[in-house]
Amino acid sequence: MFLLNKNIVLGVTGGIAAYKSAELIRRLKDQGANVRVVMTTGGKAFITPLTLQAVSGNPVSDSLLDPEAEAAMGHIELAKWADLVLIAPATANTIAKIAAGMADNLLTTICLATAAPIAIAPAMNQQMWHAHATQANMQLINAMGIAVWGPGAGEQACGDVGFGRMIEPDELVQHCCDFFSQPTQSLSGQQWVITAGPTREAIDPVRYISNHSSGKMGFAIAAAASKAGADVTIIAGPVNLTTPDGCSRVDVQSAEQMHQQALSLAADATVFVACAAVADYRVADIKDQKIKKSADAMSIELIKNPDIVADVAKLSGKPFTVGFAAETQDVEHYAKGKLAKKNLDMIAANNVATQGQGFNSDDNALTLYWSNGSIDLPLTSKKELATQLVVNINERMNDDSRS
Ligand code: C5P
Repeated sequence: MFLLNKNIVLGVTGGIAAYKSAELIRRLKDQGANVRVVMTTGGKAFITPLTLQAVSGNPVSDSLLDPEAEAAMGHIELAKWADLVLIAPATANTIAKIAAGMADNLLTTICLATAAPIAIAPAMNQQMWHAHATQANMQLINAMGIAVWGPGAGEQACGDVGFGRMIEPDELVQHCCDFFSQPTQSLSGQQWVITAGPTREAIDPVRYISNHSSGKMGFAIAAAASKAGADVTIIAGPVNLTTPDGCSRVDVQSAEQMHQQALSLAADATVFVACAAVADYRVADIKDQKIKKSADAMSIELIKNPDIVADVAKLSGKPFTVGFAAETQDVEHYAKGKLAKKNLDMIAANNVATQGQGFNSDDNALTLYWSNGSIDLPLTSKKELATQLVVNINERMNDDSRS
């Protein structure tokens, strides 16, 4: 009962995912939460207040200007009663209103009137989600400190496929539980070291060998771990990203530099996450001067780089060590092979051959493997995925220390 006696105001707005609200309420109540539903006019077009009243066991509120309703539990009382205001589904329209600070219905008014944290589960057509206006509103929502849970990707009610699906009731309940278990405290005292981005292997003073890694996944993991209270250092290859709040950062260019920094920083770390796309080989003989164009063909001799994560996993008193496996085929087979060969505690595998995820994308899907288990983290934003990964790493680490 992770939500015992928690008061949740559930806002239900006008999206097809509103049909899942009844299930969501039941699952929240299973965890011990008290749920009071506030519906918009659009929400009521998709599911009846009577249904939600029956499953929540409380009257459903839908009007700001109804004297009778205000006499019972008015908008200010509801706003004060809430430990959390969760809006699921949250339509593009409601998101826009909240971003603009409007108070033209009971739900948006409560959002302004409450001191409680607010979380939204966006739900809309994929084109609407990607629309410039919605994305601009989401930036404001993020800046306001409103938690954003989802959206997920997949087939939509309108037949489109893409981002915008409300994440499932079970996932929303999990978010609520994580939220109230105060993850901001849960990693305090832990040192996390995370490698991110590509490496650059010099050929001569002006040329190098590198890859398309953006570093976004590693930086998202750093942000999530830091937000959860960990002391985080990023060892960053050349990337175009700002350092997340509260994280330290060491910039490197080559795999050898990354290797050196990683071994020294990981010696005192609780967790080491190897998210960097490290070049497997470097140039054997880096020229001091720019190589001149001459022959029609030329060859460059390459020699193997050290395997950073494998060397960290060899440290005595090694940190909980997590690797990544970017594969284009047979993902499970190769990922499990690397888990064993590199002596990792966990490996996060993704299929980089799938469009719209992995390298340079804002989204990703992962499967986590450890010695005797696995879990799928379905396609979602790297930010959301990073939070789920951090929670899973911490859980595994706690399980390992108990066993
Ligand atoms: O063997 P492969 O390169 O596919 O393994 C990927 C994992 O190993 C990633 O976690 C990556 O950061 C790490 N790695 C490393 N040093 C290398 C090569 C890969 O830490 N030289």
